[in-house]
Amino acid sequence: MHAKYVAALTIVAGLSVGAARITSQDVEAGRKKAEICAVCHGLDGNPPQPPLPILAGQTARYLYLQIRDFQQGRRTEPQLTPFVKDLSQADMLDLASFFAAQRARPTAFKSDEAKVERGKQKAAETLCTMCHLGGFMGQNEIPRVAGQPYEYIVKQMHDFKYGRRTNDAGSMTSVSKTLSDGDIDDLAHYLADLY
Ligand code: HEC
Ligand code: HEC
Repeated sequence: MHAKYVAALTIVAGLSVGAARITSQDVEAGRKKAEICAVCHGLDGNPPQPPLPILAGQTARYLYLQIRDFQQGRRTEPQLTPFVKDLSQADMLDLASFFAAQRARPTAFKSDEAKVERGKQKAAETLCTMCHLGGFMGQNEIPRVAGQPYEYIVKQMHDFKYGRRTNDAGSMTSVSKTLSDGDIDDLAHYLADLY
C-alpha cells in the first residue's frame, strides 16, 4: 500500500474534533438563509439536477468546512462563489445545521450490478470506510458519500486525482491516485446505490 496514503489514514484516524452541537434555533435560522441556495441545491438540499451534491443529511461539520473553503478560495466552484462570499461565520454554521438536519432522497440513477459488485470490492480493498465509516455515512469532517449522485462522485474523484480539488489535507488526493478511471466508475456506481 502507498506510504503516503497510510500516513493520511493515520492522521485522519486521530482527527475527530468534537461534533458540532446543533440547536433547532440554528436550523430555523439556516432555513431562511438557505433560500438563496435553492435554485441549485433545492429548498431542502436535494438538488433538482443530478450533477450537484446532495447537501441534505450531510454532516454539519463537513458542510461548514466546505462553505468556508469555498469562501476562502481553498476549493473553487465559479457558480457557487458569489453566493458564499459575504456569509459570516454564524451564517455558515446556520446553513450547515439546516442542511444537515434535512433528509436525503434517493436519486433516479440506476446502478449497473456488475459495477456495483466491483466497486464494493474496490472500496473494501482501499479501506475507504476506515475514514468514511460503514455504509459511507461519514462523521464530523468526513463526508457522507452514500447515495450522492453518480456524476458528482465521479467529478470529485477525478478532481482529487488530477489535482483540481486540493482542500482535503492529502487524504483523498493520495487515495484517488491509486485508482484507475475504471475503478472510479465502479466505485461511483456502488456509492450512488447506497442509502
Ligand atoms: C448557481 C448554483 C449554486 C448556488 C446558488 C449554490 N451552489 Fe453550492 N454548489 C454548486 C455546485 C455546482 C457545487 C459542486 C462543486 C463541485 O463540483 O466541486 C456546489 C457545492 C456545494 C457544497 C459542497 C458539497 C459537498 O458535498 O462537498 C456546499 C457545502 C455548498 N455547495 C453549499 C452552498 C450553499 C450554502 C449555498 C447558498 C448560500 C450554495 N451552495 C449555493 C452550485 C451552487
Ligand atoms: C484517509 C481517509 C480517507 C480515505 C481512506 C478515503 N477518504 Fe474520501 N474523503 C476523506 C475526506 C477527509 C474527505 C473530505 C475532503 C475535504 O475536506 O475536502 C473525503 C471526500 C470524499 C469524496 C467527496 C465527497 C463530497 O461530498 O464532495 C468522495 C466522493 C470520497 N471521499 C470517496 C472516497 C472513496 C470512494 C474512498 C475509497 C476508494 C475514499 N473516499 C477513501 C477521507 C478519506
